[in-house]
Amino acid sequence: MSVEDRGFVFGDGVYEVLRSIGGKFFATRFHNERLTRSLKGVRIELAGKDSPECFTEIGRELLKENGLASGEATLYMQVTRGAATRAHYFPTPGVAPGIYISVAKFEPPAELRDRGAAAITHPDLRWGRCDLKTLNLLPNVLASQTAKEKGAFEAMLIRDGIVTEGAKTNFFGVVDGSLRTHPTDTHILPGITRAVLKDLAAEVRIDLEERPIRADEIPRLSELFLTGTTTDVMPVVQLDGAPVGNGKPGELTRRLQKVLLESLASGEGSD
Ligand code: PDD
Repeated sequence: MSVEDRGFVFGDGVYEVLRSIGGKFFATRFHNERLTRSLKGVRIELAGKDSPECFTEIGRELLKENGLASGEATLYMQVTRGAATRAHYFPTPGVAPGIYISVAKFEPPAELRDRGAAAITHPDLRWGRCDLKTLNLLPNVLASQTAKEKGAFEAMLIRDGIVTEGAKTNFFGVVDGSLRTHPTDTHILPGITRAVLKDLAAEVRIDLEERPIRADEIPRLSELFLTGTTTDVMPVVQLDGAPVGNGKPGELTRRLQKVLLESLASGEGSD
C-alpha cells in the first residue's frame, strides 16, 4: 500500500471486523450492509465489480490458505479513498480505493467473559458521525489506553451526561429492573452484536428499552454488559473501581450471554 494512501495520511477510510467460527463468518450480510453504509456515509465509491461480498469471499480464501478454516479467526476489511498527492479534498475521480483484507487467529476472551471485567468512564471526545465505522479511531485509542493503564477492559464513553458506548463495544445495562441500551443514532456505532442480541432478547422474551443511560444513573445499575464481534457478551462487574450490582455477572447478563454463545456455536446466521 502506498505511503500516500489517504487511509495512512488522513485516516480517510472505513472498515469492518467479522468473526469466523469453523470457516464460517457470523452475520456476514449485516457487516456487508454496514460497510456499504459507511462507504456511502464518507462518499467512497468502490471500483468496477468490487463489493463487500467480493471482500468476504477473499476473506474465505484467506482463511483456507492460512489454515484458519477451523477454529476461530477474525476478518479485517478496510477501504480507503486511495493514494494521491496529499490534499485535503477528494482526489480527482479515477483514483481507485485502497482495499486491505486480512485474517488472524482469534482466541475468545473466555475466562474474562465468565468472571466479568472492569471498566472505567471516560469523556466521549469523538466526532458527530459515530454511526460510521471509520478509521479515525484516535479518541477510541486514547480512551482504551487509559482503561488499560487502570487495569480495565473497556472505557465507557460519556457525552453530554449520557453513556454512549464503549471505545470498542456497545453496552446494555439494567436500571431499576429494566434492560436498556442506547438507541441507534449518530452517537453510537450500530453494532452487529447489539442488533443480533436485540433479536435474541425478543426471542427469549426479555424486554429491552432503547433509551440512553445517563451518567447519573450509573450508581443504580444492577447489571452492565458489553457487546461486540470480538467481545461477545462481556459482563462488567466493576465500574470506576465500584462494584456493579453485587459485583458479579447479573442474571439477565448470564441468560443473554448464553443465548448469544449458543447462536454463535449453532452456525445459524453464518456463511
Ligand atoms: N469494534 N462500538 C464501537 C465504537 C466499536 O468499535 C465496535 C466494534 C462496536 C461493536 O460492534 P460490533 O458488534 O459490530 O462488533 C461498538 C470492532 C470489533 C473493532 O474496532 O475492532
